[in-house]
Amino acid sequence: MSTDIDYADVQGTILRGYRVDMARHFILSITDAAGARAFIGQMVSGAPGVPQITTAARWTEKPECFVNISFTAAGLAELGLTTAQLGKFDAAFQRGATADYSAETVGDIGESAPAKWIGGMDDGTRVHVVLNLWVEEEAEVLEKVTAKLRAAFAGCMRELSAHDARALPDNQVHFGYRDNISQPTVQGAPPRKHPIPDDQPVVATGEFLLGYPNQSGGITSVSPAELSKNSSYAAFRILEQDVAGFESFLATYAAEAKVDPEMLAAKVCGRWRNGNPLALQPTEPGTPLPMSQVNDFTYVNATDAAADDTLGLKCPIGSHLRRNNPRNAGVVGTDSAHHRIVRRAMPYGPAYDPAHPDTTPRGLIGYFINASLTNQFEFLTGQWNLASDFVKSAAAPSGSPAGNAYYNVSGQDAFLGVNDPSNPTGPNYSSFTLAGPGAKGTGNTTIAGFSRMITTRGGAYCFLPSITGLKYLSTLVPTT
Ligand code: HEM
Repeated sequence: MSTDIDYADVQGTILRGYRVDMARHFILSITDAAGARAFIGQMVSGAPGVPQITTAARWTEKPECFVNISFTAAGLAELGLTTAQLGKFDAAFQRGATADYSAETVGDIGESAPAKWIGGMDDGTRVHVVLNLWVEEEAEVLEKVTAKLRAAFAGCMRELSAHDARALPDNQVHFGYRDNISQPTVQGAPPRKHPIPDDQPVVATGEFLLGYPNQSGGITSVSPAELSKNSSYAAFRILEQDVAGFESFLATYAAEAKVDPEMLAAKVCGRWRNGNPLALQPTEPGTPLPMSQVNDFTYVNATDAAADDTLGLKCPIGSHLRRNNPRNAGVVGTDSAHHRIVRRAMPYGPAYDPAHPDTTPRGLIGYFINASLTNQFEFLTGQWNLASDFVKSAAAPSGSPAGNAYYNVSGQDAFLGVNDPSNPTGPNYSSFTLAGPGAKGTGNTTIAGFSRMITTRGGAYCFLPSITGLKYLSTLVPTT
């Protein structure tokens, strides 16, 4: 099957980074299904007055705003999809983000539990639509388009909440790291305007769009056909970051591990805060590497021992980077190309000022996009981020006395883990290993007992229909 993609049929955020500084996400509940179908139709009709859904088609002039829309399983049911049709959708999508199984799988427990989610997201049955608006950086445009959208959905959907995001300088996230460096290169997708080359395989289109072969050669489809090709799934997440807690973690545990706090910051992430990867820059942050180098690395090199990091001596196997994309390292669950994810999230809340500590909520909000919530978002979050036994036993090219990868990872992801300090024998006890050379982990330093630093404040499992799919939904005649 051809992987030529009709970009004009794909919602833009799936395949394109919009390179904007502001976003507003509306969480909506359908109150009038016929009106909601008409609203969807207007957004793909070219009708003047109603903001149109942005596609992945090339533009000659950058639009003043970008609009995309997604639906939960409850939302598709409201619009008229039958139980039999919904039964063919991704299993995680069907159960939704607030289901107990989903929450336990991805670590949304305790303070992160769906019952505590903000903005009406605690009740997944009421969350039907996530409507997204991005603008370059003009607040007036954000307000102008917001007013138009609100006028258009007012009679048919109730606004449960709206959530703003604002980019921080230099693409930073609230812990001070440079973000937006590594994204999968999707076969057939429009080339990035400012490409960041890497040494990783191009990922099959079907890992991000339904209707194309995926990494396993299978094609995911749903019924009806109109909703299948060029559609995608996403986990919408609101992740609150405890910046003061993170800085205090660095100070306390760097002293315990006898490393510089900046080194510990780099070790838990896999990149220094300036974006340089530990894989290439293992001992000091240095000056930011050129974009041509900053993502161009792998972890295993069987022919060059100096370039090899099988054991995680440079970049810990349990770092956020390696857990979320082990690249060419040996892991349980096929390989990393089967579990890539497109990240379209942006910081929210004011920058933290250590001179004036505050508790204003701040964090990261947006979509984590994939063709299978079960095999990508949930697998990644629930397995590689919440477990330490995902790495395959492997020695460095120099031989086993230098150690074995299996021993060099502990606990959960420092960012995405549950990291419960209260129960040292429990499965969620926080622990992080800085590997040193030596058989069976004898050269390792492990820090433990730190608190969770990122709390889930909201979420929804979403379906991003193609433009054909949106037109289908807009004219759907529900069976009674
Ligand atoms: C507040 C929450 C989060 C923070 C602060 C955070 C931070 C970061 C940072 C600083 C990077 C390095 C920049 C880059 O390589 O582009 C990164 C990379 C990455 N993160 Fe996160 N992240 C968060 C949530 C998540 C979630 C929820 C997922 C997946 C479900 C995820 C998956 C990834 C992936 C796949 C990479 C790129 C790894 C690679 O290709 O080498 N992150 N993250």
